[in-house]
Amino acid sequence: MKKEKLIIFDTTMRDGEQSPGASMTKDEKLRIARQLERMRVDVIEAGFPAASDGDFEAVKEVAAIVKDSTVCGLARANENDVRRCGEAVKGARSPRVHTFIATSPIHMEKKLRMEPSQVVEQAVKAVKWARAYTDNIEFSPEDAGRSDLDFLCRILEQVIKAGATTINVPDTVGYTLPEHFGGIIRRLRERIPNSDRAVWSVHCHNDLGLAVANSLSAVLNGARQVECTINGLGERAGNASLEEIVMAVRTRQDVFPCDTNIDTTQIVPASRLVSGITGFAVQPNKAIVGANAFAHEAGIHQDGVLKSRDTYEIMRAQDVGWNANKLVLGKHSGRNAFKARLTELGIELSPEEALNAAFKRFKDLADKKHEIFDEDLQALVTEENLEHAVNEHFRLVSLTAHSETGVSPYAKLVIAEDGKERRSEARGSGPVDASFKAIETIVKSGAELLLYSVNAITTGTDAQGEVTVRIAKGGRIVNGQGADTDIVVASAKAYINALNKLHSTLERLNPQV
Ligand code: KIV
Ligand code: ZN
Repeated sequence: MKKEKLIIFDTTMRDGEQSPGASMTKDEKLRIARQLERMRVDVIEAGFPAASDGDFEAVKEVAAIVKDSTVCGLARANENDVRRCGEAVKGARSPRVHTFIATSPIHMEKKLRMEPSQVVEQAVKAVKWARAYTDNIEFSPEDAGRSDLDFLCRILEQVIKAGATTINVPDTVGYTLPEHFGGIIRRLRERIPNSDRAVWSVHCHNDLGLAVANSLSAVLNGARQVECTINGLGERAGNASLEEIVMAVRTRQDVFPCDTNIDTTQIVPASRLVSGITGFAVQPNKAIVGANAFAHEAGIHQDGVLKSRDTYEIMRAQDVGWNANKLVLGKHSGRNAFKARLTELGIELSPEEALNAAFKRFKDLADKKHEIFDEDLQALVTEENLEHAVNEHFRLVSLTAHSETGVSPYAKLVIAEDGKERRSEARGSGPVDASFKAIETIVKSGAELLLYSVNAITTGTDAQGEVTVRIAKGGRIVNGQGADTDIVVASAKAYINALNKLHSTLERLNPQV
């Protein structure tokens, strides 16, 4: 019997982007969108167009390039947001407007300061405004997990009547439990007279670590769209993770009456891409995409796996895109081979100068590191994009770092500030500390360092180190990244990248505010 379809709605570029420090540039969004399309995600929520002109442009461009997935934008239930969103997505082959308003007593009273009847009226108006742009309209009653069921029935019946085609039920604060949340979906579908005219969707947050469990419970109770993000990125503790939802449904087809259309072999590349772009590293024991997810350490497990993989493996690593590192290019590879491999990886660099600059980086890297893997190429392109994405107010020109047992480490560097070279040197507890101090002597940002992490991109001692730093100043939090075979240089690049982001005035709104 043919299974029903479970629609996968990815909101990495909207809810995921709302994680502190995870904001994405237009080019980064385009790269993620291409990967999501390659993975056959059904709906891509590309951003919140009313948040900023930058996000409007990003959503518009994603709408222009994506052909096989529906492209969606988010809008609060007011005329300006809905129009901005409609304008941003209308160029898509399949556009969707997603509008929302809060429905829980606490949000209506304390945040919106609106009466329930005003909230219903506003929601209906928003759906009608959206109809000027598309018939594909999604409505979300924000904080549905803490809303009154009778009120949800009342408002949802009205928005379906007004033209909403997808009803998305969010557990905005991650408060519900699986049985409870599944029950909400079942009862809404049973009690709302026109419920069969909409697709039922869920959007769960992970504050109690239950986002995936709640979403799957909803699917068992009739939801046919799940909103999720790569690596579970998202506000606070994040959203339901796409890879876990997809693989749970795929692996337990004995339980689920539906299946997704996802090409699961694209999951690990998508995870890597998103973690590279946002600087949010994936924990090693994360299901599906963590480095240890398929590693068997205990002797008894290894013995079993060697005899027959299915003794301990319920999924195959290669089915979710784990491949042995592939040697792709070397020192003598030419520009065409480089470009062809990038195309195979779904990376298009244009204009021509961007490709030339990336090729030069590749040659420099190949001089230091003889074997270049896909992961190296991805890091190299991320670096290239990072430098172009933010206005490079500060640029690392050169760095000398010295460490010797018994001698206090120091760093000496040259930074170009708006093209003008400035020099400094400093001592520190290690060469990384010394170089950050030397940078700070020039930049004087006064920013607080919240996170510093190093990740080896591939195996071997000649691997590139990928460094992420997170800094905060005046309530703004930004992530910076840098990669190099020398981790002191990678660290300095990452710090400077973060400082450039802090320096840029690009501001975004959070839709919930
Ligand atoms: O968590 C939430 O309620 C949301 C909505 C805007 C869908 O992100
Ligand atoms: Zn959310």
